[in-house]
Amino acid sequence: MDTLMEGLKIRFVKEQDLNGCYEIESASYTTEGATREKIKTRIRLFPGGFLVADFKGSLIGMINSASTNTEDLTNEELKDMIGHHNNGKNTVIFSLAVLPEFRGKGISKKLMEKFIEVSKKLKKKKILLLCKSDLIPYYQKFGFFDLGKSKSRHGGFKWHVMCLPLNAE
Ligand SMILES: CC(C)(COP(=O)(O)OP(=O)(O)OC[C@H]1O[C@@H](n2cnc3c(N)ncnc32)[C@H](O)[C@@H]1OP(=O)(O)O)[C@@H](O)C(=O)NCCC(=O)NCCS
Repeated sequence: MDTLMEGLKIRFVKEQDLNGCYEIESASYTTEGATREKIKTRIRLFPGGFLVADFKGSLIGMINSASTNTEDLTNEELKDMIGHHNNGKNTVIFSLAVLPEFRGKGISKKLMEKFIEVSKKLKKKKILLLCKSDLIPYYQKFGFFDLGKSKSRHGGFKWHVMCLPLNAE
């Protein structure tokens, strides 16, 4: 455990991380997962909202997002970064994922804590995301509120809207 944390770096994504990120996405999601192309677009357009967990040069986790003024998370176009603006008032998390063999060791916690810090520095008002009902308690640990069910049926699943207020208006 100590060795894992000692060798771990939470850093901003780089273009050459695409394969590693796609591997994490594919190992973590089924029909709701992003294509390689979508991840490439997210890296290109918003590297400042895309963090990776780098363990001794190998990627083991990631968190990625868009920055937008809309709060409509049913908008599928945003997943292709249509509606993303670097100076949008909120960040919307798409993926938070850790390779299965590294789960339960505090990696996602490090990613989320850094992501919250970065979003605050970028002066975002809120962090928004959609999650399945079993992960509501997970996000509540970080201070997110459950805003109820979303109309989104992304990937054929039912989703809840979670919100973490950051900087007051
Ligand atoms: C959800 C996921 C990101 C958690 O990653 P992880 O690195 O195993 O999580 P951590 O070890 O950092 O756990 C952080 C905290 O959340 C808790 N937690 C972890 N998974 C949880 C779950 N499924 N439900 C509730 N709490 C959970 C841990 O107990 C820990 O609590 P603590 O700080 O009080 O000890 C990981 O299981 C994953 O990649 N899942 C597949 C993709 C996914 O569903 N992502 C989220 C939806 S977008």
